[in-house]
Amino acid sequence: MSAPMGYSRAQIALHWIVAVLIVPQFVLHDGIAAAWDKIEDGIAVGFDPLVAGHVFGGIAILALVVWRLALRARRGAPPPPEAEHPALKLVAKATHGGLYLLLIVMPVSGLVAWFGGVETAAEAHETMKIALLALVVLHVAGALYQQFVLKTNLMERMKRPA
Ligand code: HEM
Ligand code: HEM
Repeated sequence: MSAPMGYSRAQIALHWIVAVLIVPQFVLHDGIAAAWDKIEDGIAVGFDPLVAGHVFGGIAILALVVWRLALRARRGAPPPPEAEHPALKLVAKATHGGLYLLLIVMPVSGLVAWFGGVETAAEAHETMKIALLALVVLHVAGALYQQFVLKTNLMERMKRPA
């Protein structure tokens, strides 16, 4: 399969929808963390929109990322800029791979914890949030570096389909 010149409309839309959906998963996590503490103490929890938002937001992310990976497997992704240093290419590849992996394992571990009552899964979920956050920060810093220092067209290809 030859590499495409850019991302498709669907790939771009899915990238930005997931980027938006991930924010409340981090910012509004207090509800689910408090509910989980209660469950661990054997206290019943009632309906809480923040908890429902975290659960359904996480499931939506999982579904969209699976869709995105299926598109990527079929269509591929554009190659990195030719002039890019090999070390930078490797960092970008590893960051994207790590992001995809965590975007699958985070919701799955959350689901196993919440619906299966598995404490280890909740602990893994809590630990992995740090790795996911670190990769997102690295990724956004990389995108800004490409845009403002290296002045490549990478940001453009996550805006306009090709
Ligand atoms: C990409 C998707 C997800 C992200 C980024 C995410 C992120 C987070 C974060 C940041 C916390 C707070 C951890 C803390 O206490 O410091 C959390 C807690 C939690 N999440 Fe998620 N979550 C996702 C998906 C899900 C899903 C789909 C479920 C379940 C259906 C879920 C269940 C839980 C549970 C039970 C906790 C409490 C665990 C604890 O505090 O130890 N999460 N999540
Ligand atoms: C302001 C925030 C963000 C900006 C400016 C941004 C920018 C970009 C750009 C320009 C690319 C294309 C890189 C290339 O062509 O090689 C890209 C790819 C990617 N982004 Fe983001 N991104 C942002 C947020 C996020 C977030 C929050 C996530 C994950 C939670 C994410 C996950 C990914 C992944 C996995 C790819 C690889 C796409 C592929 O090749 O399949 N991005 N991003």
